[in-house]
Amino acid sequence: MMKKKRIVLGISGGIAAFKSASVASQLTQRGYDVRVIMTQSATKFITPLTLQTLSQHTVAVDTFDEHEPKVVQHIDLADHADLVLLAPATANIIGKLALGLGDDMLSTTLLATQAPILIAPAMNVHMYENPVVQKNMQLLKNQGCYFIAPGEGQLACGYVGQGRMAEPENIVNWVERFFTSKKLLSGKRVLITAGPTREQMDPVRYFSNYSSGKMGFALAEAAKEAGAEVILVSGPVSQSTPTGVNRIDVKSTEEMKEVVLSYLPQADIIIKAAAVADYRPKQIWEQKMKKSADEITIVLEKTPDIAAEIGKRKQAHQFFVGFAAETEQVAYHAQSKLERKRMNLIVANDVSQPGAGFGIDTNIVTIFDRQGEVVSLPQMNKIEVARRLIHLIGERIDAY
Ligand code: PMT
Repeated sequence: MMKKKRIVLGISGGIAAFKSASVASQLTQRGYDVRVIMTQSATKFITPLTLQTLSQHTVAVDTFDEHEPKVVQHIDLADHADLVLLAPATANIIGKLALGLGDDMLSTTLLATQAPILIAPAMNVHMYENPVVQKNMQLLKNQGCYFIAPGEGQLACGYVGQGRMAEPENIVNWVERFFTSKKLLSGKRVLITAGPTREQMDPVRYFSNYSSGKMGFALAEAAKEAGAEVILVSGPVSQSTPTGVNRIDVKSTEEMKEVVLSYLPQADIIIKAAAVADYRPKQIWEQKMKKSADEITIVLEKTPDIAAEIGKRKQAHQFFVGFAAETEQVAYHAQSKLERKRMNLIVANDVSQPGAGFGIDTNIVTIFDRQGEVVSLPQMNKIEVARRLIHLIGERIDAY
């Protein structure tokens, strides 16, 4: 039996709280384990008993109502959520989350969770358009929160405009799509590169870099989860191949280029996470170089730029994502690579930051498209970064 996905449904105090009963009911009926947290103000609009009956679980309201001595309730809810859904999200709870404030059960859970957060704002149109509210929402978007925009129409306050919480059906469909992102890339062929390249100098020595392949392999796993057929071209690494992924091992940039270009015409999506050497020794010694002089000079020459070649050959329907490993002026260098190599997206990591880059299990990335920054994700496991990126590609690919 598949474990039920747990959704923590946070309800804040707005008239749209009555619609959350329908969200809770529909999610429960579709087999989700729904745990409800309400703010005190939300309880003025709808009773906890209604939500308890629909979700079949007690509803958390008071942070200090700790009935289970072995757990701290808001941490427990935060830790075991697969998704936190904030519906309705008032300007107040959005502001608190953006500022990092935790003064009740819902806001502390939101701060403590590492699960993805989906926010369904609902408020008066002028509140929604208020620059501070817009700024807070942008900040949360940049940190990886998902938003389901409010609809336009007659608002409970009498105004007509944008601010009405998305309909429960739309929210539930979003959640379904999020968890069944298996369908997101089904029928698509994804070509991914991972790991370092090795540029040989003599039979026992080479130039390379610290790439472990973790980022690229996480992408292969996430793309497979999303239903894609995955071809993973990897430099020398010691990662195990995700189930169902077709892996081709290469060593040098030249070999990687040959393999990548041979698969390119069949690929719908190309993701270049490999740390490809930019230079290689101009001469390869046939025998092991003997130690002699105190100093030696090795002349390096440029390797082929595989990404630039993909950019040149890419067809209109193909979606191309590059990575940029930078140590300074990250946004500037990443965006110029995106332009030069005709990428659709570029994932920039500042590899000088602790928690980001080579060898480790986490990364901190900012994703850019031709218009500028799309999202800036906080430190998270590479598999979670990979899932976010695959989700973003899935959302965009059909637009091409
Ligand atoms: O493997 P891990 O240990 O998990 O580390 C992950 C990572 C840091 C390697 C990964 O997140 C990453 O940033 N990969 C890209 C590293 C890199 O080569 O960046 P770059 O800025 O030098 O290159 C830009 C893009 O051009 C990349 O998509 C690269 O694959 C590509 N390139 C570069 C040079 C070249 N000759 N051919 C290329 O295709």
